[in-house]
Amino acid sequence: MARIVIHSEKKPFKLEIGGEVKYICMCGLSKNMPFCDGSHKQCESEEEGKVYEYSDGQRFEVSREESEEEYDNKGDEEDDDEEESEDGDSEEE
Ligand code: FES
Repeated sequence: MARIVIHSEKKPFKLEIGGEVKYICMCGLSKNMPFCDGSHKQCESEEEGKVYEYSDGQRFEVSREESEEEYDNKGDEEDDDEEESEDGDSEEE
């Protein structure tokens, strides 16, 4: 199973534990999760209001209308998987 997760942060979160400083990835691109590996630098040139997909080290712009349409339709698909039984309880197929 796969999923698409949208991240909008472009910098890591600085965390101090017991005098030690760690940087937690907030951009979603690190190859060393949950820690930042500097990959967030790829996000610096992103334009406000646009949605991007990162795959195999390359960046692709995703149509915002397409991504919102896909997201809106997800609820419909999940609703189709459920059927209501005669006693009113929901059951999955
Ligand atoms: S914040 Fe994700 S790699 Fe740095």
